[in-house]
Amino acid sequence: IPVDLFDLVIFGATGDLAQRKILPGLYRRFHAGQMPEGARIIGAARSEMDAEGFRVQVTKAIADFVDPAKHDDDTIAAFLQSLDYVSVDATGEGGWDALKAKVDPARINAFYFSVAPVLFGPLADRLKSHGIAGKDSRIVVEKPFGRDLASARALNATLAAHFEESQIYRIDHYLGKETVQNLMAVRFANILFEPLWNAQYIDHVQITVAETVGVGGRGSYYDKSGAMRDMVQNHLMQLLCLIAMEPPYHFDPDAVRDEKVKVIRALQPIPAADIVRGQYLGVKASAGRAEQPGYLADSENPDSRTESYIALKVQVANWRWQGTPFYLRTGKRLRGRASEIAITFKAPPHSIFDQEEASWRENVLVIRLQPDEGMNLKVMIKEPGPGGMRLVQVPLDMSFAEALGEDGADIPDAYERLIMDVIRGNQTLFMRGDEVEAAWAWTDPIIAGWEARGDRPRPYDAGSSGPEDALMLMHRDGRRWREIRE
Ligand code: BG6
Repeated sequence: IPVDLFDLVIFGATGDLAQRKILPGLYRRFHAGQMPEGARIIGAARSEMDAEGFRVQVTKAIADFVDPAKHDDDTIAAFLQSLDYVSVDATGEGGWDALKAKVDPARINAFYFSVAPVLFGPLADRLKSHGIAGKDSRIVVEKPFGRDLASARALNATLAAHFEESQIYRIDHYLGKETVQNLMAVRFANILFEPLWNAQYIDHVQITVAETVGVGGRGSYYDKSGAMRDMVQNHLMQLLCLIAMEPPYHFDPDAVRDEKVKVIRALQPIPAADIVRGQYLGVKASAGRAEQPGYLADSENPDSRTESYIALKVQVANWRWQGTPFYLRTGKRLRGRASEIAITFKAPPHSIFDQEEASWRENVLVIRLQPDEGMNLKVMIKEPGPGGMRLVQVPLDMSFAEALGEDGADIPDAYERLIMDVIRGNQTLFMRGDEVEAAWAWTDPIIAGWEARGDRPRPYDAGSSGPEDALMLMHRDGRRWREIRE
C-alpha cells in the first residue's frame, strides 16, 4: 500500500539503532520505490552538524548495513536529498524553533524517539510546547519500555500527558519480522491447524530464541537487564501471545491487541522450580578458535548475578491451554543462532499398526523465524520397502524464500515494515500501553522471586545449548528440547 507524503523526525539520529537499522531500513524502502517523492527524513540529535554532515554519516550507514546489490549511486544520491538535520537539545530549548521550521504540519508527521527512555518525557514536552506535534502526529518509542511495572506505568503516564494512545507506536521489532506475522497467517488463514490448536491436541509448545553473540560492547545496559527483561518480557512474550491467542474478529489493531492482552493476563505465576537461569563462561583459545570472554568479563561486573540465558515453563491458565505447557528459552553465546517455535501434537489415541509404542512419534509443526524462515511439519509415513508396514517420520519442509520464488528472495527487515506502518497509521504490530504493563505485571514477581532467594545463574559453556539444568526442566516432564544447531 503506498504511503502519503510524510516528514519523519528521528531523535537520536546519530545513535547506533538509527545508523544500523532505521536509516538503512528507510533507504531500502526508498530503493523499493515505496517512499513518496518529497518525503523528508529529518535527523535530530545533540551533535552540531549540518545536513551535509548527516548525509555523510548516512552514506556510511548504507554502505555498512545495506546489501551491496542495492547500492546504486543515483538512488543513494536521491535518498540523501530527502535527508535533513537539526541539532536539538532534548532537555533544553536549543534547536526547537529550527526543527519547527522544518516540519510541515500539512503532512503526516512522525517523531521517532530513538533515545534513552529518560528523554521520552523531555522530548514529548518540547514537541508540544513548541507547537511542533499536533493531534495527528505519531510518536515511535523503542524498548526497553520500562524495567518493571512501576517504570512502565510512569513512562505511559508521561507519554499520555501529551499524546493519545492512538498516536503512540511502541516498537517490539519481533512483530515486524515477516515470519512472526506469518504465525497469524498460518493460524487464521488456514482451516487445517486451528481445530487442533488447543490442549486436547497439543502436547506442548517450545519457543526458542538462541543467539551466538555475547553482550560485549553493551554489557553495562545488559547487566542491569538480563535475558528476562531484555528478551522474555517483550519478544518471547509476543511470540507466545501470537501462538496462544484466540482468533481476533478482524485483523484490526485493537482486536488483535485485545486478544494478546488476554493471553498475558492468563499467564500463571512461575514457581522457582520452573525457571533456569544461566550465565556463559569464557572459552580459552584453542586450535583455530580465538579466546572468548565470559559473561563476567563482558559485563565488566565480576559479581554479576544477571542471566544471559533463561528457560521457563509457562502455563496459560484458560480453557484452550489448560494442561499444555509452553517452554520458553533464550540465551546469548549459544551453539547456534536459531529462533523457532515448535508445536508438538499429541500421539494418535490408538495405534492400528503393530509397532512398539516407543516408535510413535508425535507430529511437530516447527515455524522457523530465523535464519532460513520457513515451516516444517513432521508427519508419519510408511517406510518404503517390502518389509511390512513400518512407519517413519519425515518432514514436510518449506523454506519461505524457496516457496515464494522471487518475492521471497528479499524479505524486508523488521524495521522497514514497522516504520512504514507508522506512516500508514496502522498500530496492529505495535504494543499497546496496557499490553506492556500486563507483561511487566507478570514479569516483576518472577524477577523479585529470584532476587529474594539470592539465586545465582548456572554457568554454561559459550557455544553450548545452555545450562544442564535447562535440560532437566523438560526431562522431568518426559519431554526434550529441540536441538540448537550450529
Ligand atoms: C534486542 C535485544 O531487542 O533483540 C538484544 O536487546 C537481542 O539483546 C536482539 O540480541 C535480538 O534481535 P534479532 O532480531 O537479532 O533476533
